[in-house]
Amino acid sequence: MTRLLLAALLLLAAAALVSASTLAIAAGPTVCGVAADNATAYCAATNNSSYSARAVAPFIGFSQVSSGGGGFVCGLQVGGRAFFCWPTATPDQLRRVYNGPSRLSGLAVGGGHVAAYDVGERVIRWWRGGARFPAQVGGGFSSLVSGDDFTCAVETNTSAVRCWGPGGSAVQVAFLNTSVSTLAAGGSRACGVLMNTGAVLCSGSDAGAVAPRDLSDLAGLAVGDSHACGLMKPNHTAACWNIAGPTTTLYYPAFGTAFEFLVAGGNLSCGLVTTNFSLLCWSTNVFVASEVQLPAILPGVCVSDAKSCKCGVFTRSGELCSVPGNVICNRFCDVPPPPVLPPPPSPSSPPPASRRISKTWIVFAVVGAVGSFAGLCSIVYCLVFGFCSHKKVHNSVQPNIAGAADNGGTPSPYGSPNGLQSLGLFRRQLSRVMTRQRSGPSSFKEPAEEFTFAQLAAATKDFALEAKISEGSFGTVYWGNFADGREVAIKRGESRLHARKFQEKESAFRSELAFLSRLHHKHLVGFVGYCQENDERLLVYEYMKNGALYDHIHPKACAPSSSSSPVTSSWKLRITILLDASRGIDYLHSYAVPPIIHRDIKSSNILLDGSWVAHVSDFELSLMGPETEETHMSMKAAGTVGYMDPEYYGLHHLTVKSDVYSFGVVMLEVLTGKRAIFKDAEGGSPVSVVDYAVPSIVAGELNKVLDGRAPEPSAHEAEAVELVAYTALHCVRLEGKDRPAMANIVANLETAVALCKGSASAAGGLVNSSSSAGLSITSMEL
Ligand SMILES: *[C@@H]1O[C@H](CO)[C@@H](O)[C@H](O)[C@H]1NC(C)=O
Ligand SMILES: *[C@@H]1O[C@H](CO)[C@@H](O)[C@H](O)[C@H]1NC(C)=O
Ligand SMILES: *[C@@H]1O[C@H](CO)[C@@H](O)[C@H](O)[C@H]1NC(C)=O
Ligand SMILES: *[C@@H]1O[C@H](CO)[C@@H](O)[C@H](O)[C@H]1NC(C)=O
Ligand SMILES: *[C@@H]1O[C@H](CO)[C@@H](O)[C@H](O)[C@H]1NC(C)=O
Ligand SMILES: *[C@@H]1O[C@H](CO)[C@@H](O)[C@H](O)[C@H]1NC(C)=O
Ligand SMILES: *[C@@H]1O[C@H](CO)[C@@H](O)[C@H](O)[C@H]1NC(C)=O
Ligand SMILES: *[C@@H]1O[C@H](CO)[C@@H](O)[C@H](O)[C@H]1NC(C)=O
Repeated sequence: MTRLLLAALLLLAAAALVSASTLAIAAGPTVCGVAADNATAYCAATNNSSYSARAVAPFIGFSQVSSGGGGFVCGLQVGGRAFFCWPTATPDQLRRVYNGPSRLSGLAVGGGHVAAYDVGERVIRWWRGGARFPAQVGGGFSSLVSGDDFTCAVETNTSAVRCWGPGGSAVQVAFLNTSVSTLAAGGSRACGVLMNTGAVLCSGSDAGAVAPRDLSDLAGLAVGDSHACGLMKPNHTAACWNIAGPTTTLYYPAFGTAFEFLVAGGNLSCGLVTTNFSLLCWSTNVFVASEVQLPAILPGVCVSDAKSCKCGVFTRSGELCSVPGNVICNRFCDVPPPPVLPPPPSPSSPPPASRRISKTWIVFAVVGAVGSFAGLCSIVYCLVFGFCSHKKVHNSVQPNIAGAADNGGTPSPYGSPNGLQSLGLFRRQLSRVMTRQRSGPSSFKEPAEEFTFAQLAAATKDFALEAKISEGSFGTVYWGNFADGREVAIKRGESRLHARKFQEKESAFRSELAFLSRLHHKHLVGFVGYCQENDERLLVYEYMKNGALYDHIHPKACAPSSSSSPVTSSWKLRITILLDASRGIDYLHSYAVPPIIHRDIKSSNILLDGSWVAHVSDFELSLMGPETEETHMSMKAAGTVGYMDPEYYGLHHLTVKSDVYSFGVVMLEVLTGKRAIFKDAEGGSPVSVVDYAVPSIVAGELNKVLDGRAPEPSAHEAEAVELVAYTALHCVRLEGKDRPAMANIVANLETAVALCKGSASAAGGLVNSSSSAGLSITSMEL
């Protein structure tokens, strides 16, 4: 009984209001924070370069600040017995709103009202709430948050969400019958991390009410007007998504940076960097984060009661909290308390050039005029990702080790004409794949269809010349039409060269085919079946009516269709094709166990069906990848000139990031309309598209290298094209560890496609801000 009582008391003591923050975002956008050195509040406008961070009433020590994203910010004085509010535009008009005697905590400013928890009376109180809010509400609460016209809190005894104010009941209904561990609010919505599943639930009736399913068990949450962001465990990096519309596109701002916590307001989000307590901010759907010049910010609110910290105490609390004995609670139970300035927990250490940004005063900005945004954004990008520090090391022309012909000129409708490079190689590598699977091929569902040679001969009119689609050094591809009407592509291997290999066991061959037939994905070319008779070995694939992406970007001069290809004339289609292909590759990387590395991603291996849906083809070089990114295979390089990862080529380290590099080259190809390796002038020396495009993109002169045959991108499309260009830059980084994962590329391309559609919901703030008055990056001094 006593024990129960004690537990209950501890539970109540745990009512540290986790939503209380040392950072706030107000209109402007302006960011205010409590400095780590002496608890002074500082505010920095993020849209005006001549407005540097200003101390707000330096004679007052603040423990926390809050803003509802509106025109004012409030700060709770250290000790909790007073709070002050000031208009963002004129901080010198600071007013004391509350003056003791009770101690407050968990200040939660909404749009026009202020709520706080009265620790002495154990009630929530409101100020400036008028008749819209109750005078006070009693109880134990573990979270207090405010939105435009509501305040919500998590009841300590039930973990249920309770809300008040005009918008309160709509929000509370969304959380009916749920237990919530973390709550955040912004605009008209609140989001909570559900206790039993770790899933994120957001109020609001749109489809975006629930966060993307791959987000669960978040270590922190922030909600803006139309977006939400969370910290992923265990690396505490940020993931954001739209909550205002039908899509829930995930994007990963400041990829690889670990944050202590996030805040959001309007269309802006900021995170406090774990390693140095500096502030990175990004606006909705722009994954490029910029540093906002504020002094180092306290990593949490200093509280008097160390017992209320569920996850222990921040080790540097003594030096950080201005009141002796006060402590900062750790936000994460899943990591040991960080040592003094610990290394980032993310695998990729910050690139060397990112150091420069600390001396850089970048006015962060919401996207304004596209044109002016473009240039500066590139520079910010290059600083953030350290791209500029690299010398150009991309070899323009690399020897083709595996002897795979540069098939640029003769792509086939289901893959490269070197196609089945040789059935022997194909089989050998698949055997390797199979033996890597410890449990062996035990659970194949649909085995591939086996055809007789006669059937395939009939389908191709006896491999007639007219049926031939393409020819490579190792096999020929034919268009086939079965009696049942199915159209297929049939790859016929040059068996005579590799007769020896055919003596391998039939069972191994069958396993290999079964393995191939297991790769089912909307954006991979479907494997239909095979034929083995005597020396004949054929593979049958779904027929891709519109051929290879390569053919559409680089049409033969004589081809009549060249100018009329919808790929040439539509940025939206180009980017959609990239998105489709990235999803196919992501499937190989993320959903196949162990991951599969394609090894030969190129535009001639991205095939388009009759509806212009892209499918990745040609798996004959594909291999089961390493289980993790840290381990990597050392092997002889194979692939295609111009697309090959320099790291893989040079060091023979093969990871999924090698495919990311190749895909980056494809993205540049699609943007510029240039071949992976091309001759700029008649008789000139070959140039790689990477060397051609990257300097211009970095210099903010993307327009210089964009494919001139495509129409001028519309405003929305220009944003999308920018995003694709930055993503491509990121992909062709020299070191694999600096390149994004395929899932991040998919997320960016989803955003880009949404932008092309000009969909306000999916495009979040971008659409709005392009018409709103001049928010742009206005200055940057090195
Ligand atoms: C910054 O935002 C404030 C408040 O919205 C606005 O008054 C001001 O004009 C903006 N400054 C610039 C340079 O855009
Ligand atoms: C930027 O801030 C400075 C300093 O507060 C102010 O004088 C100037 O008018 C602001 N500029 C704009 C465009 O808002
Ligand atoms: C904190 O430091 C700033 C700058 O160093 C100074 O202006 C301010 O007076 C200090 N505030 C307090 C409360 O000590
Ligand atoms: C939880 O606390 C609230 C207010 O403090 C009270 O009204 C409610 O009955 C309590 N619920 C339970 C299950 O104890
Ligand atoms: C919540 O629970 C009650 C009783 O258990 C049930 O009647 C009600 O339908 C539930 N509501 C929702 C939205 O699940
Ligand atoms: C961080 O962790 C999440 C979830 O485990 C993962 O999806 C993401 O790729 C990781 N990010 C980095 C930079 O390691
Ligand atoms: C803090 O760390 C972040 C991420 O590593 C970096 O971008 C930023 O430049 C650093 N800021 C300072 C002031 O060192
Ligand atoms: C943010 O973007 C949304 C959606 O485009 C827009 O409705 C809203 O006004 C924007 N908010 C701010 C503060 O710019």
